[in-house]
Amino acid sequence: MSNKIDLNGRFAIVTGGAQGIGRAIAERFLQSGAAVAIWDRDLALAKKTAAELKTRGRVMACGVDVANYPGVEQARETTLAAFGRIDILVNNAGIGGPTSTTWEYPLEAWRQVMAVNLDGSFHCCRAIVPHMIANNYGRIVNIASVAGKEGNPRAAAYSASKAGLISLTKSLGKELAAYDIGVNCITPSSAKTDLLKQFTEDFVKTMLAKVPRGRFVLVEEIAAMAAFCASSDCSFTTAGVFDISGGRATY
Ligand SMILES: NC(=O)c1ccc[n+]([C@@H]2O[C@H](COP(=O)([O-])OP(=O)(O)OC[C@H]3O[C@@H](n4cnc5c(N)ncnc54)[C@H](O)[C@@H]3O)[C@@H](O)[C@H]2O)c1
Repeated sequence: MSNKIDLNGRFAIVTGGAQGIGRAIAERFLQSGAAVAIWDRDLALAKKTAAELKTRGRVMACGVDVANYPGVEQARETTLAAFGRIDILVNNAGIGGPTSTTWEYPLEAWRQVMAVNLDGSFHCCRAIVPHMIANNYGRIVNIASVAGKEGNPRAAAYSASKAGLISLTKSLGKELAAYDIGVNCITPSSAKTDLLKQFTEDFVKTMLAKVPRGRFVLVEEIAAMAAFCASSDCSFTTAGVFDISGGRATY
C-alpha cells in the first residue's frame, strides 16, 4: 500500500511514459489524481498503455520524438488543447546506447544518446517552462541516473548525458527559484526494464554488484519519489538531486 500524495487537479506530461519507469510514474500520478499525457516516440505502445490505464483516470497518448524540437512544440500544443494547462513535466524518455569503451564508441550512437537524453529534456523544458512561468506554478522532474554521478565505464555517452541532465536541473532550478516552480532530478541505480537490454549482461551484473541493497530498484520505488517531487509538498527543494541508488552513491 503506497502513501497518498495529492496530485488532484494537476495536469502532467510523462515523456517515455509508454513503458518501464515512465509507465510506473504515469500510473502513480493517475492514482494520485493527476491527468497524464504520455509522450512517447512509440505511439502505438503509448496508445495501448493509455487504454490500459484509462480506468484509473484521465490519460492521453501523444506521439513525439523528444529529440526533435518542432515535434515537442507540437506535442505541447496538442496537450494544451486537451488539458488546458500543464503543471508537471517529467523528463523520463531516455536510451542506453551501446556498451563500449569511449575510444571505440560509435560516433552516431554518441550523438543519438545525447540527442534523446540531454537535448530531449532541454527541448521539453524550453517548450513548457514559459507556460509554467505564466501560471507561476510547475514541477519538473528529470530522470537522470547514478551513472551521471559516478561515470560508468563502457557507458560514457549515457553517463555524460545524465551528468548533463543533473547540471541542467541545477541551472534551470536556480533560474526559476523566484517562482513556485521546482526543478529536481532523480538518480536511480539499475531497474529491470527494457532499457537494460541495450547493455550487455556482464555490464548489468557489474552495475548491480555496486549496489549495497543488492537488488534492482523497483520502478514503483522510483515512481514514489517522482510523485513527491511532482507534488506541491515539494515546495522548497529546487535544483536538487534525489538519490535512489540503494546506497551506491551516498551524495
Ligand atoms: N532502467 C534503469 O536501470 C535506469 C536507471 C537509471 C535511470 N534510468 C532512466 O530512466 C528513464 C526511463 O528508462 P526505462 O528503463 O524505463 O527505459 P525503457 O526503455 O523501458 O523505456 C523508455 C521509453 O522512452 C521512450 N523513448 C525513447 N526515446 C524516445 C524519444 N526520443 N522520444 C520519446 N520517447 C522516447 C521509449 O519508446 C520507451 O517507451 C531513462 O531516462 C533512463 O535513462 C533507467
